Amino acid sequence: MVPGYRVWWWSVFTLSLVPLAVLVARLLFGQLGPDPAEPITRATGLAALQWLLLTLAMTPLRKWTGRTEWMRLRRMLGLFAFFYACLHFVAYLHLIAGWQDLWGSFTRRPYIIAGLAAFLMLLPLALTSTRAAIKALGRRWRLLHRLIYPAAIAAWIHYLWQARADIGDMVLYGAVLGALLGVRLAGWAGAKMRIMTKV
Ligand code: HEM
Repeated sequence: MVPGYRVWWWSVFTLSLVPLAVLVARLLFGQLGPDPAEPITRATGLAALQWLLLTLAMTPLRKWTGRTEWMRLRRMLGLFAFFYACLHFVAYLHLIAGWQDLWGSFTRRPYIIAGLAAFLMLLPLALTSTRAAIKALGRRWRLLHRLIYPAAIAAWIHYLWQARADIGDMVLYGAVLGALLGVRLAGWAGAKMRIMTKV
């Protein structure tokens, strides 16, 4: 472990709490308007997507820098993405749709179905993020955790689909996601080529 890694880890942890702190402060100071349901749902959804993208950036960073510490940050960032997705999920049910007719709440719009798909893919990743699960699942853990890619795509589709007018931000996030997926695909293609040339 590099010196100062702990400070680095705690800094990233603290920074990951900023979206929550900002939201709570805005709520306490009455800055969320007369109907806070929408700003709360939007802020938590955006934080979930941003932390998902940060999580996806860790593997390329490990490859480029040769440092494995990025992978520990990846776990923490991934769990924060899930944490914000849970807040978003609960905010939607509690403040917008209600808990009575869950089927109706989740199928009322196609973009909600895409969000639910993203959430359901993130769920097993969060549940198997412990050391014990990594050990127990072995090779299957890596395969399972590739779900992060379709989950990120579904989350972005969900984001794009609910857009009303200006899609500038969605395009920007899509470009970042496309670049991160491109880097991973290039890595997998490179590894396959190396195996084939060895045989
Ligand atoms: C069951 C799961 C989900 C439900 C029911 C849901 C529902 C919603 C709703 C109601 C909105 C607000 C739309 C509006 O105000 O017009 C929204 C926005 C959003 N959601 Fe979700 N969502 C889910 C999962 C996710 C997940 C897993 C992510 C990301 C990882 C995500 C990211 C976003 C983003 C980025 C926005 C837009 C925020 C903004 O406008 O700034 N959602 N979602």
